[in-house]
Amino acid sequence: MLKAIDEHQEQALQQDKVPQHVAITMDGNGRWAQKRGLPRYMGHSEGVKALISAVKFCVKKGISILTVFAFSTENWYRPKGEVNYLMGLMKRTFEKHIEELSSQGVRVVWIGDRNGLSKDITNIWLNAEELTKNNNRLILNIAFNYGGRNEITNATRRIVDEVLTGKINPEEITEELLSRYMYTGKYVDPDLIIRTGGEYRLSNFLLWQAAYAEWHITDTLWPDFSDEDFEIALLSFSRRQRRFGRVVE
Ligand code: FPP
Repeated sequence: MLKAIDEHQEQALQQDKVPQHVAITMDGNGRWAQKRGLPRYMGHSEGVKALISAVKFCVKKGISILTVFAFSTENWYRPKGEVNYLMGLMKRTFEKHIEELSSQGVRVVWIGDRNGLSKDITNIWLNAEELTKNNNRLILNIAFNYGGRNEITNATRRIVDEVLTGKINPEEITEELLSRYMYTGKYVDPDLIIRTGGEYRLSNFLLWQAAYAEWHITDTLWPDFSDEDFEIALLSFSRRQRRFGRVVE
């Protein structure tokens, strides 16, 4: 069956110049620190500075959605000290920056698996969501305890439950329906995915949503990612011809 081009793709074909939704794999924090003879965790705290400035950059540019990969379902297997440091850093980051971000119209949304986490950790994220829930200038999706396969598995489980309880007919299961059951269900797919740190891999990020995203991979390590690097990514995006698998005349 020929799938109709959706409204977001239609707009992207017509305007195409500034992405509505940008996603970022913020990689290279550890290497940034190691290059300077510093412990890895210092790369993460520098990474927060780069994240705050990327958020402000998106607000300035009128980008509507920024999705960042902060902590994966696999990152729990890092050394305990690094995991603990990252949890503390996230808490401190919200304490320090949430009001300022909120005053700029940023809404924080946690995307990821909400099951099986400690109350302390869950509350950090729920508080950030609650404090910013009325903002709508920039949706900041933060992928925490996130894995693309985990997301698709959870979506499948929820859909099967709905089928078993008669809320969904199997014939109603379409790509659009699956999209709505992803953690990003309310939002359009990313137009542009940036990966810092120079590795050419997906790392289980936005597997479903990345189907037609444009990629920009840079060697810049995340703590060094500046407005200028972001401009370069946007410029590269603006020169691409998006076709969504079709022929564009
Ligand atoms: C990848 O670099 C980065 C991470 C696993 C953590 C990213 C987290 C932040 C920037 C802080 C987020 C804070 C909030 C509030 C969301 P890496 O350690 O894998 O770097 P490497 O590839 O050089 O080892």
